[in-house]
Amino acid sequence: MTQTLVVIGSQWGDEGKGKITNYLSEKADVVVRYQGGDNAGHTIVFGGYTYKLHLIPSGIFNPNTINICGNGMVINPRSLVREILNLKSLGYSCKNLYISDRAHVLFDHHQVLDELQEESLAQRKIGTTKKGIGPAYTDKVSRQGIRMADFMSEDFPLVYRRVVRAHNEVIIQMGGTPVDIETTLKEYESLASTIRPMVKDTIPLLHEAYREGQKILFEGAQGAMLDIDFGTYPYVTSSNPSSGGVAVGSGIGVTRIDAVLGIVKAYTTRVGEGPFPTELLNDLGDHIREVGHEFGTTTRRPRRIGWFDGVVLRYSAMINGMTGVALMLLDVLSGVEELKICTHYLLDGKQLNYIPARLEDYERCVPVYRRLPGWKEDITMVKSFDELPIATQNYIKAIEEVCQIHVQCFSVGPDREQTVLREPIF
Ligand code: GDP
Ligand code: IMO
Ligand code: MG
Repeated sequence: MTQTLVVIGSQWGDEGKGKITNYLSEKADVVVRYQGGDNAGHTIVFGGYTYKLHLIPSGIFNPNTINICGNGMVINPRSLVREILNLKSLGYSCKNLYISDRAHVLFDHHQVLDELQEESLAQRKIGTTKKGIGPAYTDKVSRQGIRMADFMSEDFPLVYRRVVRAHNEVIIQMGGTPVDIETTLKEYESLASTIRPMVKDTIPLLHEAYREGQKILFEGAQGAMLDIDFGTYPYVTSSNPSSGGVAVGSGIGVTRIDAVLGIVKAYTTRVGEGPFPTELLNDLGDHIREVGHEFGTTTRRPRRIGWFDGVVLRYSAMINGMTGVALMLLDVLSGVEELKICTHYLLDGKQLNYIPARLEDYERCVPVYRRLPGWKEDITMVKSFDELPIATQNYIKAIEEVCQIHVQCFSVGPDREQTVLREPIF
């Protein structure tokens, strides 16, 4: 039996992690976010409503499921309170939400620095979400961050003034507008009092649940190719979305993780800058963007579109120890006459079956494709693998073969109901 399952993005984010986490959370006692912040945008559709979550785990809609924002996250308290109030206004109490006292707090100065850094990079900009994620993790790693426990303490004003003064110097040097310390402090104190009841040591909570045999889901944000260690550095985010991040970002031990489900789009998308070998810079790319509503959940930026990249999924499956995948947005490909799956790359005429470390090499990789006939049928109502058109079945089989991984589940529309399990996952 799978007691603990990790749900992770296998590509460059926005694969449908929110949808699948929410779908599986009906059986979960606990759902944990373990990294990232409100750079994430997870969409959940059920009962005729669309919900967008940025910080809060996608199990929040089940009152009996505990939701934890883990220690590996960087949390903007303003965004958090906004999200809580929004959920409350929709009838979800958020009484089942806990915030790790070890999570780092993301403040206005992080956001200002993110914007200034992007500006100064000009042509070499990362294309961040400008939510302050990089600067917040920089403070964490350089041991200057403020954690939730500090944010809740009476020493907070003292620490905050000192920290912001130091950051303001850098902001001024970079030509930006410094943060108004006293005004923001007042607001942050009020935000702190709103979230105080939710902040606690979440590690005992998690382990108690584990010991009692409760089912635990770990919800990744971003994707393996945006991982600070394994992704297309420097065009990555500043955390470890890959499954290795689960242990350090939540406090569960690595031996306690039973399975890893990779969430994969039936094609590829990417937001922001950075290499993307299978990118479709043509009418077909525009068509898929329109049909798939491929515009960022957090920033509304148009997502870049490309063919399915088998090298990416093979790599992702390897570094994450994936036990299976959920293949998403299959319905979007209905009507595309011929489909392509990248099986490997050519670099200087030589076959490459992995992702090279050097960006300059990756940029020069030429994808080699397997071509497959597409299908015309609308598949949004399909309830089983056998009901799929033969061409769709073959497309799934080809992905399984090229990537040596089993498609355990597939998705044919944004709604929770439009999910087909081929076997029990959790
Ligand atoms: P996440 O960040 O991984 O949670 O993914 P996002 O929510 O940012 O982006 C996925 C988008 O695809 C959302 O708009 C979902 O509602 C939508 N979606 C998820 N699965 C499917 C699917 O199978 N078909 C279609 N058409 N849309 C889907
Ligand atoms: P979800 O969880 C897609 C991308 C940004 C940029 C890079 C660094 O919804 O899949 P950051 O603000 O993190 O410093 O930006 O990472 N990025 C995402 N792309 N989905 C996300 O989250 C992302 N979060 C960050 O576009 O390229
Ligand atoms: Mg998203």
